[in-house]
This record gives sequence, structure tokens and C-alpha cells, in this order.
Amino acid sequence: MRVLYRCSRCGYITEASSWIWKCPKCGGPLDLVIDGLRLTLNERRDLWRFSSVIPARPLASLGEGFTPLIKADFLGSNTYLKLEYLNPTGSFKDRGSAVAVSKALEFGVRTVIEDSSGNAGISIAAYAAAAGIKARIYVPKDAPEGKKSLIKSLGAELIEAPSRAEASKMAVESVGPNEAYIGHAWNPWFIQGTKILAYELLDQLGHIPSAIVFPASAGTLLLGLWVGFNELISLNIVNKIPRLYAIQAQGFASLYERMHGGNSGEPTKLADALRVSNPPRLEQMVSAIRDSKGDVLVVTDDELLQSWKSLLRRGIIVEPSSAIALSGYIKLLNTSYLSKDEDVVIILTGSGLKYIDIMSKI
Ligand SMILES: Cc1ncc(COP(=O)(O)O)c(C=O)c1O
Ligand SMILES: [Zn+2]
Repeated sequence: MRVLYRCSRCGYITEASSWIWKCPKCGGPLDLVIDGLRLTLNERRDLWRFSSVIPARPLASLGEGFTPLIKADFLGSNTYLKLEYLNPTGSFKDRGSAVAVSKALEFGVRTVIEDSSGNAGISIAAYAAAAGIKARIYVPKDAPEGKKSLIKSLGAELIEAPSRAEASKMAVESVGPNEAYIGHAWNPWFIQGTKILAYELLDQLGHIPSAIVFPASAGTLLLGLWVGFNELISLNIVNKIPRLYAIQAQGFASLYERMHGGNSGEPTKLADALRVSNPPRLEQMVSAIRDSKGDVLVVTDDELLQSWKSLLRRGIIVEPSSAIALSGYIKLLNTSYLSKDEDVVIILTGSGLKYIDIMSKI
């Protein structure tokens, strides 16, 4: 398999033989072009069951992927929940981290650097620990305490920044020799991990669903699904992409604003994991939504709170930033974007076990 970096803005192409996190010509986000993609399943029961389409060796793995897909009988006869919060560190980010940290190791990196509102930081810290390398994680100082202490317990260096945007800036500026900026919002290897969700959904369902509903902020899940389903098309395994419905939190809805215009209202206090203001891959996110004939919706904290409680009362322990997908699904039903008998997958992205202290206050 031959792998190239290609800039999503200016088209610059170069061999993917070292760690580059943005286009050296124009500063745009890089994609990977894989020559000779072929799908053969192996016997593993994790992400690496699909190794044949992942351009990295499994050097850092904690058993990520292959999460349960359960029927959500309380919603509709063909509605499924994909339990991504059951990944090793409690979020879908583990798919991306496993591939990105594995690749960083292949390239001889000894320290990985990440900026995150919490979950990606925890995930990169855990995979760096599994790989025996260092991690330095920049988070906004108001990230949940539980998330911050977990990053430290995993042995990473935790640096608190005044805001989410400041955390990104500080992370990028700090990179030294033998260190790699993971920057999941930019990282093309990370998306090679999240894309496996598309393969896995097909494997588990036996067909592609008509729609998928999930939270979106920097777009690594949205773009993973888009890349994955497009690969399945290029492999002649499926002939269309499910409609992709991205759900965003109020105040951090750049995708919604780019596609539908302004979105006023109080910024979310609950969906702390979805607070990215300027996603670097915004134009690709727009293409993914348009190509799939899906859409993007914004959910308020009141709506989100109801969904969070309703999931908890069914034994489904997710975090608020995941419950937002259920609010989105209900809105899509109410506005007839979706019908009750359609095959729909709702992706539950992050675990509520990181929120026990917060639950008691709400
Ligand atoms: C639990 C959870 N859900 C969804 C998202 C959104 O993912 P993305 O930023 O890749 O769009 C995040 C991102 O941090 C998250 O932590
Ligand atoms: Zn470029």
C-alpha cells in the first residue's frame, strides 16, 4: 500500500514518510491518499480486524473498536445505538488515537502533543502510555475536573490554557525535536482510525443504514464516516453513503452557521466536549454533509438535558456531548427528515462515567 499526503486546500502532494501535521505550502489540513486499497478481514475482534485498509501497524492498541450495536426499541423498530462510549478510554476518539499514536511510533516520535477539551486528551494520554512514550496535553482550564485528573493519572503532562482556542495555540507552539503534534482536528492518521466505524457498521448490520446521527465539533467522526463509506464505494462493496446528520451544540455551531447562517443563543454549558470554534476541516465537513444528502442541526442545553436524563433512565451512561445525538434524532423525526421505520444508527460517542460529580449537581 502506497500512502501520500495530499493538501485538502492547494492539492500539494508528497510521500507520507514522515510526520507532517499541515500543508508545508499553504498551511491547510492534509488528507491521505492510499494507493492499492484492498479489504480483507482478519480474525481480530477490534479496530485492527480491518488492518488491510489502515495505513499503520498496530503498535499502540488497547482493544479499541468493535463496540456493540444494539437495537433502540424505545425509538423505532429499525433504530440502533452504536455504543462508542464503551471504547477503552470511554470515547470514539480511541479509534483515531490508536492509529495516530501507532503511526507516530513508526516515525520514531518520543513525545506526542495534543490539545483537547478532554476526551481526545485522555485518549492520547492512554495510547501514549500503552506505547511507552510521553504525552503533553493542553486543555481549557474549565474542562471537567474528572477528565483533567484522568489525563494526569495516565502519566501525561497536563497544561491548562485560558480557553479551548488558546490550548490549540499553546500546543502547536510547544512542539520540539522528536515531538509530534497530534492535533486530532488536523491529523489525517486520526481519521484513518475513525473511518473504521463505517466498515464496522456494515460488518455488524450486514447492510448500510439509511442515516447516521452523531455529534460534531471538529468533525473527526463526520469525516471518518465520510472517508470510510467513500472507500467502501470505491471498493465496490456498497453503492451509496448513508445520510449523515451532524448535531452541534449552541454557541459552537460553525458547521451549521457555514451551511445555514447565524445561530444565536446562549453557548452550551453542558456539551463541554463540543466546543471547537474554528474547525480546520470545516470545508470538508460541509462537503461530507452535502454529498451524503444529510444535514446539520443545533440543539439547546434544555433539549440535551432531557435526552441525557432519558438515556440514563434506560441504563445508558453517556456524557452530555453524546446525548445531544438523541436530541438531534428526535428533532429529525419531528421535522420529517427521518421516518420511524427507517434504518438509523445513533452514535453514542462518550461515557458518562467521567461525569459522576457533575450529574449530582444537575
Ligand atoms: C464525546 C464526544 N462526542 C463527540 C465529539 C465530537 O467529535 P469531533 O470533534 O471529532 O466532531 C467529541 C469531541 O471531542 C467528544 O468528545
Ligand atoms: Zn496546501
